[in-house]
Amino acid sequence: MCGIVGYVGKRDAVPVLVEGLHRLEYRGYDSAGLAVVHRGRLAVTKTAGRVQDLRDKLKTNTKATLGIGHTRWATHGEPNEVNAHPHTDTAGRIAVVHNGIIENAEQLRAQLQGSGVRLVSDTDTEALAHMIAAELAAAEAGDGPAAPGDLEDAVIRTLRRVEGAYGLVVLDIKNPDQLVVARNGSPIVLGLGENEMFVASDVSALVRYTRQVIYLEDGEVAKIRATDYRTTTLAGQDASAKIPMTVDADDDDYELGPYQDYMRKEIHEQPDALRRALRGRLDDRFATARLGGINLDARELRSIRCVKFLGCGSAYYAGQMGATVIEELARIPADAEPASEFRYRSPVVDPDTLYVAVSQSGETIDTLMAVQELKRKGGQVMGAVNVVGSAIGRECGRGIFLHAGPEVAVASTKALTNMAVSFALLGLLLGRVRDLSAASGHRVVTGLRALPEQVNRILAAEEDIATIAGRFAHAEHMFFIGRVRGWPVAREGAQKLKEISYVHAEAYQAGELKHGPLALIAADMPSVVIVPSDDLVAKNISTIEQIKARGGPVIAVTSTDIPEGLADAVIRVPRAEPELEPILLNVPLQILAYHAAAKLGRDIDKPRNLAKSVTVE
Ligand code: G6P
Repeated sequence: MCGIVGYVGKRDAVPVLVEGLHRLEYRGYDSAGLAVVHRGRLAVTKTAGRVQDLRDKLKTNTKATLGIGHTRWATHGEPNEVNAHPHTDTAGRIAVVHNGIIENAEQLRAQLQGSGVRLVSDTDTEALAHMIAAELAAAEAGDGPAAPGDLEDAVIRTLRRVEGAYGLVVLDIKNPDQLVVARNGSPIVLGLGENEMFVASDVSALVRYTRQVIYLEDGEVAKIRATDYRTTTLAGQDASAKIPMTVDADDDDYELGPYQDYMRKEIHEQPDALRRALRGRLDDRFATARLGGINLDARELRSIRCVKFLGCGSAYYAGQMGATVIEELARIPADAEPASEFRYRSPVVDPDTLYVAVSQSGETIDTLMAVQELKRKGGQVMGAVNVVGSAIGRECGRGIFLHAGPEVAVASTKALTNMAVSFALLGLLLGRVRDLSAASGHRVVTGLRALPEQVNRILAAEEDIATIAGRFAHAEHMFFIGRVRGWPVAREGAQKLKEISYVHAEAYQAGELKHGPLALIAADMPSVVIVPSDDLVAKNISTIEQIKARGGPVIAVTSTDIPEGLADAVIRVPRAEPELEPILLNVPLQILAYHAAAKLGRDIDKPRNLAKSVTVE
């Protein structure tokens, strides 16, 4: 969703900001803008288009060493140039970029209008610019409580009247050596350079320049200058004792290299990503997994009576894969629930359940809120997040890092695979403190170790899968059918296809087909049927037969042999340990969705209406 960048230093700020905005494009946005201080005046450029349009619009001679930029995802007011950020006060002194939603915006806007301020946009953010300017003006006239000219003080006084979520950066032309930033619910990270300082909502915008970062906490405000920074809380307490973190990513991770788009690049990175997820976590001696970050000893692991995964979108489906593997390996009840529903239904929180918050970005607001709800009710919660330092990771304080590396495409691929493999590790660990035998543990350890190479073999068949995708891409609707282990795979397969190709796709449990959906089976309704190598093969084959008998085309995705000529197309994956097969069966579905979308000419990395991380409700 919305992205923020800021710069103060000696470089030419405009290209630094534009480059940062390019890096944030993947999050999804509908308009963009930036503001710099040029010869003592505010120079603001905005566009209702892409960052590239903004770049084209910028005057090449706008030299500056201080500036802020934004990519906007519309919440208050339609996506047009006026509503794009940065927003300014009437005199053009203050510029603000903001992520999140100000909940009392209507009231603040009315107060401003009542005092004669003319608001030009429909946004909540514009109110902040006017309020900060008013605080400064009052202080400078000697009749306000703020210290004259103190931008930080004016921002703090303003934010004390604001309710809602924000990550924001404020620029004042009369304080041309500094930016003031604040966070409450929307991420803000400071990048520390040598005699220069960067701000962003996401480290991807910074890693080209520095890997030393500081994450602001909720309720914190920072004043940053080229050579130093100071953090305080809104309540006025000093919060400067922060140790910078080194980001585990560099600029190359965000380069496309030989690929046309990030989704394909990330699909192909999966063997390496899997190796990273497994590194140091397989214990051959005791045939178990080592997951130091979850901070639970054997007795505590044994006292867990149930596991519940919470996540949104693909992270929820990965949680479902996790629930299946944990029930199988540890024989304890496990399930998954969309985090977006959890907090609204006044959940019963069970102290003996281990809750796992699943999120690639670690910033998804619904998942974060579910964690907070759990903590409030005394639930045991751990994170399964990819982005180290992200809000969910920090809020949980313990968990499993996914180590997939930066994921840029909206459609999650390598992070999802690493979620699924991490849950298999958790299942192994929980199983081995219970009744899973050492022999079975060894079997799973060996199976896990084989996965990266097996994924490589699936990737080698990309061309064949692309041909199959080409044959079916023009269908208007598709079914994805799975049973037990194949069911979460089918759900995630349908999700991938619909989100990037816009082909309507629905997943059904194989057994449910005859209770309704079978009515839709016809020659123009292809079904992708997932057939793992388990004791349900015969049942799944009979499902294919039922679909074929009604004239429906079938693409079988399988690790076993199915009768010659039964399906219209067959995609094979290597046979793995049965509990781990969902991890492999999911990969060809990513490739299928990718090539269907490519065939239909879709903007694969930036599907319409979607954002990479949904940080507002
Ligand atoms: C958005 C994306 C999905 C993603 C979901 C959860 O809806 O479009 O692709 O699965 O968020 O994201 P997270 O970062 O929490 O895994």
